[in-house]
Amino acid sequence: MKRFLSGITPSGDGSLHIGNYLGAVRQFIELARANECFLMVADLHALTTIQDKKQLSHNIETLVLNELALLRGFLTEEEFKKIIFFRQSDVAEHTELQSILNNVTPLGLIKRAHAYKDKLQGEVSEEDVNMGLFCYPILMAADILLYKPDLVPVGKDQKQHVEITRDIAGRFNKIYKNNVFKLPEPYIPEEVAAVLGTDGKRKMSKSLGNVISIFEDEEIIRKQVMSTYTDPTRVHATDSGHIEGNMVFAYLDFFGESGKVDELKEAYRKGQVTDVEVKNYLYDSLMKTFVPARKVYEELKANPQKVKKILENGAEKTRAVASQTMQEVREAIGLTNAYSLSNASGYLTIDEFSRVEMRVGKVIEATNKEGSDKLIRLVVDFGPDFAKASSGEGSTRIIFTGVREFGYQPSDFLNKQFFFVTNLAPRRMMGEESQGMILAVDSGSEKKPIFISADEMPIGARVW
Ligand code: TYM
Repeated sequence: MKRFLSGITPSGDGSLHIGNYLGAVRQFIELARANECFLMVADLHALTTIQDKKQLSHNIETLVLNELALLRGFLTEEEFKKIIFFRQSDVAEHTELQSILNNVTPLGLIKRAHAYKDKLQGEVSEEDVNMGLFCYPILMAADILLYKPDLVPVGKDQKQHVEITRDIAGRFNKIYKNNVFKLPEPYIPEEVAAVLGTDGKRKMSKSLGNVISIFEDEEIIRKQVMSTYTDPTRVHATDSGHIEGNMVFAYLDFFGESGKVDELKEAYRKGQVTDVEVKNYLYDSLMKTFVPARKVYEELKANPQKVKKILENGAEKTRAVASQTMQEVREAIGLTNAYSLSNASGYLTIDEFSRVEMRVGKVIEATNKEGSDKLIRLVVDFGPDFAKASSGEGSTRIIFTGVREFGYQPSDFLNKQFFFVTNLAPRRMMGEESQGMILAVDSGSEKKPIFISADEMPIGARVW
């Protein structure tokens, strides 16, 4: 099993086109079946071009939905659950590592990056290029190196960035005489390295307006298909037509049924089929391919809690990996020393603390746990919002508290509301899992814990 990592930027309007699907997402779907895959919504990267608050937040939402719909539409629930899907800005270590990598990255290396050079080819002068765009390959290097992936699936346009990443990682390892970073390899299947747009000339790209969308209204997709470049030398449908360079056939090679596509190619060469007929077949094939994903898209759009839960899980898993790498980086460069505040000091950082989820719960059952002289077993209800957020696990949790020795009895809890921590890893107690923790305060001189009533508060409310 190998580790893969990739990202997509919520640029343009945030929506995905078939170039992104063929060049990136499709590989990911195949790889996810048998490998460990991290997939990121690279929202910080979008800041290089999008500086409108509303547009950025809209684009991020659109891309999250588009990606999840494709992944879930093509994978089984089990396969989908294995993918670690997250937002770059949910993991602060990306920018922290970028700051450190800035110092081992020579200016010349970044000046040679296409993203920056392409901008200078356009109407923008060097003076006006923002530093985010200029330094974008360093942020991308941080995105990759934090997770030590074996391979980075991307289209050809991103190959140089993976090479720059290798360069930066090699320099870091050399300067600090260690092997903290693994040098990643790009993973670029030749046939989809650069999918051309509907104009047949340039790479399919939102900014060039030569895309075929996946989740747009059917009428828009039909128009995009109908305007696709075919064979300009063919004046009448009865003229013999060319397949090479004909974008409709280029797309059909991926989306059509091969027998039917061969028949159509033959007929096209002989002038026995019209452009419109071939385009209609492409449209139908696209719709057929993306029906499951388009359905999931609608479902997810109507269920933001479910989307949030997926992102929460992703952030939790990625933070664990990213913070481990950052610890190694800090040690390697000399930031860790006798005065470092670390977990060994017993302190939690604000960031760590903010990950503790505390909610108001109502005790609907309370009993002494059989076989124990300490434990009271509580069944706690956290209400419908919690049930929605916990993907099918329902609204109740079993939570133990070991307070009988202080004179507490089940009736002290039954039908009352308290504060609970709801996102702890379950712990086995007397043959049963405790799925959280009730909060208590020390009573001062006597050691007896006191439970703070939350009776007046809405069930399931989160403590911020
Ligand atoms: P982005 O958002 O421009 O593109 C996302 C992915 O789609 C591929 N792609 C294409 N492949 C073939 N043909 C096309 N016409 C086509 N258009 C887009 C891109 O190559 C890419 O794989 N900087 C990256 C996002 C990123 C990233 C990362 C990727 C940020 N951090 C870490 C990998 C690893 C970008 O802007 O891709």
